[in-house]
Order: sequence, then structure tokens, then C-alpha cells
Amino acid sequence: MKHAFGFLEQYLQNPRQVGAVTPSSPTLARAMLGGIPRDDVHRIVEFGPGTGAITREILERHPVPAQLTAVETNPAFREHLRIRFPGITIIPDDAANLSEHLSHQHEQVDLIVSGLPFALMSDASLESTVAVSERFLRPGGHFRTFAYVHCYWLPKLALLRRLLRKSFRTVETEMVWANCPPAVVLRCVK
Ligand SMILES: C[S@@+](CC[C@H](N)C(=O)[O-])C[C@H]1O[C@@H](n2cnc3c(N)ncnc32)[C@H](O)[C@@H]1O
Repeated sequence: MKHAFGFLEQYLQNPRQVGAVTPSSPTLARAMLGGIPRDDVHRIVEFGPGTGAITREILERHPVPAQLTAVETNPAFREHLRIRFPGITIIPDDAANLSEHLSHQHEQVDLIVSGLPFALMSDASLESTVAVSERFLRPGGHFRTFAYVHCYWLPKLALLRRLLRKSFRTVETEMVWANCPPAVVLRCVK
């Protein structure tokens, strides 16, 4: 799959699931990982990796594929990820079901990176995804996500911001103009 073309093709087939016409830019991918001390991070979960724009940046910084678990609902993206990033674990399920896949229920992760289209998800899915993230992150662990700037003030994103503020110790934002469309990164620490 060619990244941009394959991404657009998947969007046209399932716009609500994919939620974007093009993968994240390298600038957005870097902003999603910025400011996290490398030594702080061993177990990583990525929700909605798509063609791997952010996965690539994760593995640049933390180059141990066995420590990365990707949760992706789209079979074409999963196939692409298997070829592009051998050695990572790919879970074919909804991010909200993470607890069904971690090897033991007390397992904790250091970093969760979400590329999920929260603006298009139901309130219930959004709530369960934030809840499962809070549950499996260790104290001091990092949660990162982004929202496109034109969606940022929608009620769904207001709900996301409320849940993040309730679930995490700190929530900070960073504007990223160099992405199509521009995006706001939300950086949370448990
Ligand atoms: C906006 S795209 C982001 C793709 C990639 N992370 C990037 O930044 O270029 C959203 C991705 O989330 C996946 N996705 C949507 N809902 C999901 C869910 N509930 N659980 C897991 N993956 C999901 C889509 O298939 C798609 O790959």
C-alpha cells in the first residue's frame, strides 16, 4: 500500500472509521512524542496507527518493536503495518477492548499514543477508550492524542477534554500548523 494513496482509499471506503484523508505529517508525529524522556518508556500502546505515520516516530525514539502494541480495526492498515514494522504486536480490535488483550490484567504501560478519530466516535466509545487508557497507564505514564483544529471546539471534543482532565494529573496542548489539516496535540500525564 502506498501510504497517502492507500490511506485515501481506505477513507473513501469507511470515512467514519478512518476519520482523515491523509496520514499525519512528520511534524505532527514528532509533536505527539515530544518531551517524553526516552528512559521513561518501555511498554507502549498505539491506538489507530493507520499506515504508521506516528508508529515510525515511536520506533525512531524507542527502537524495540517487541515493546510496541498497535490496536487497529482496519484490516488493510493491519496488513500494511505487519509488512512495514515487523516485530510489533498488532491487535485486530477496538481500542476500547484493550483489557481483553493485555497478557495479564495487572500489566501497566508507560505510554499510550492515540490517533483515533474521537470527533467521530460515540460518547460511549470515547468514554471507554479514555477509561481503559487511564486504567492501564502506570502512575506518571503518558497519554498523547490529537484533534484537528476545525473539530477542536465541537461538543465531542469538549467531552474528550473534560474526561482527560478528570482522568489525568496534567493536560497540556500544543498547536501544530504543519499538518493537513492543522491539529492540536493533547499531552497528558497520569
Ligand atoms: C485519523 S486516522 C490516524 C492514522 C494515523 N495514526 C495517523 O496519524 O496518520 C484514525 C485511525 O484509527 C483507526 N481506528 C478508528 N477507530 C478505531 C478504534 N475504535 N479502535 C482502533 N482503531 C481505530 C482507523 O482505522 C485509522 O487507522
